[in-house]
Amino acid sequence: MSMPVHKYRPFPSVSLPDRQWPGRVISTAPEWCSVDLRDGNQALIAPMTVQEKKEMFQLLCAVGFKQIEVGFPSASQTEFDFLRTLVDEKLIPDDVRVQVLTQSREHLIKRTFEALAGVKLAVVHLYNSTSALQRKVVFRLRRSEIKELAVQGAAQIKAEAAMMPETDFLYEYSPESFTGTELDFALEVCEAVTDVWQPSATKKVILNLPATVEMATPNVYADQIEWICRRIRNRGTVLISLHAHNDRGTAVAATELALLAGADRVEGTLFGNGERTGNVDIMTVAMNMFSQGIDPKLDFSNINRVVDVYERCTKIPVHMRHPYAGELVFTAFSGSHQDAINKGMKAHAESGEPLWEVPYLPIDPADVGRTYESIVRINSQSGKGGVAFVMEKEFGFRLPKEMHPEFSRIIQSICEKMSCEIAPEQIFDAFKAEYLNRKTPYALKSCSVSAQQSDDEATTLQIVATIKVNGEERTVGAGGNGPIDALSNALKKELGVMFTLTSYFEHALQQGSDSKAAAYIRIEISAGRAFWGVGVDTSIETASFRAIISALNRASS
Ligand code: KIV
Ligand code: ZN
Repeated sequence: MSMPVHKYRPFPSVSLPDRQWPGRVISTAPEWCSVDLRDGNQALIAPMTVQEKKEMFQLLCAVGFKQIEVGFPSASQTEFDFLRTLVDEKLIPDDVRVQVLTQSREHLIKRTFEALAGVKLAVVHLYNSTSALQRKVVFRLRRSEIKELAVQGAAQIKAEAAMMPETDFLYEYSPESFTGTELDFALEVCEAVTDVWQPSATKKVILNLPATVEMATPNVYADQIEWICRRIRNRGTVLISLHAHNDRGTAVAATELALLAGADRVEGTLFGNGERTGNVDIMTVAMNMFSQGIDPKLDFSNINRVVDVYERCTKIPVHMRHPYAGELVFTAFSGSHQDAINKGMKAHAESGEPLWEVPYLPIDPADVGRTYESIVRINSQSGKGGVAFVMEKEFGFRLPKEMHPEFSRIIQSICEKMSCEIAPEQIFDAFKAEYLNRKTPYALKSCSVSAQQSDDEATTLQIVATIKVNGEERTVGAGGNGPIDALSNALKKELGVMFTLTSYFEHALQQGSDSKAAAYIRIEISAGRAFWGVGVDTSIETASFRAIISALNRASS
């Protein structure tokens, strides 16, 4: 075979036979840290300008992030300047802690602290790679030398922080490429760094355990996290933080399982932007909690605004099927889905139940600021229910159920011809053309109805109507036991059209004095040849006359 599978090998499992995480559930939100402005930004083809970073920072604050990694200030002048802009323009809210990343190198740590001057709350984030592969091929250093590098950096950070008493510092250490690091070594380095920083229960150290590259199934990351959580010294003085990348497409699942495994904190980005396949999508993790009734402590109630700012700043479009945020995620094209959503929404509205239970919609679109109108979209796959739903929701026409197949066939054939989706306005245009605007061969010009009492006291209605037949005006008249019956009789007697009226529905279109009514009439011309007609008028009587004429015109076309 052409795929060289022999180049790869399975990731070894973690020996943790008494693992606890599979039996647990997530019940509270973790501490969140956005790394959009650092990990996310460094993965962009065109990194954000200072203006774009400012807009993104303000969005992250508005969403509710209390910890935001704002950059790698020692890496470039732009990164340095951005932090200075935040400080100088007093853009950092009092309750937001800005986080900065640094490698364990003396001049870089010094420069990092220069950038932090004047910051009230800060996290200094130290990292070095600890993985077996990188030790071998990149650094060519022994385990002890890698550990020493981390310890030296930690000591310098502690000393620099001591010289800035006006700033409240927290310290974070990442054994970069944790998932490719032997667990005993990751533990050893984390404990060595923690020993330098001497955390307490009130001033904890953040140990961030990144899946810098996602290398295995999510359960393996969870095992790795539980393994560390159970062994780390003085667990009450450290916050275990997750930082999952998405190389296998399972960063959200890995993060969720690792939270079960005992982690306290999650680093990630909006919509999963980040190196290669991205960082974990923090919005999805948070919204997954929301959809289970857990307060995520992040506010995505206006998801369109979040998408808008994100797309403008990163120049990356959010995929139309992105969970919770994609343009199409509250849209159903398939007929059976549309029907079920339609029924579910009605049942939900009628029940008054606070709990959301609508088929195919895991959350109420309104909770993220999306509208019900956009739920059902129509293409050639769509069923009768979807078209009827759009007609009612968008235009107020409650098409009788028996009429749904006829009108939906009309829309389906338009979709097939166009080979694409059809917009609500196009559906309405088709409705008008098919039912409301046909004027040939018959057009109703005027009519009057009067009641007549016969000798035996029975009341009949007499109609006199002026009708254009192929452009020529004709006046017709007849009696009947009601106005529709009278008009039918007149048409049959004087114009010789033969039909049987089989169904009739009507409803008001709007409320108020200028309200119009819609009438729907089904006529049968012969066995198997039946047509619906629709009429609209301020008078329900005239609406029903128009409906008969509409059906006759359709039958004659
Ligand atoms: O993915 C990673 O390991 C990182 C570290 C710098 C935390 O981004
Ligand atoms: Zn990362």
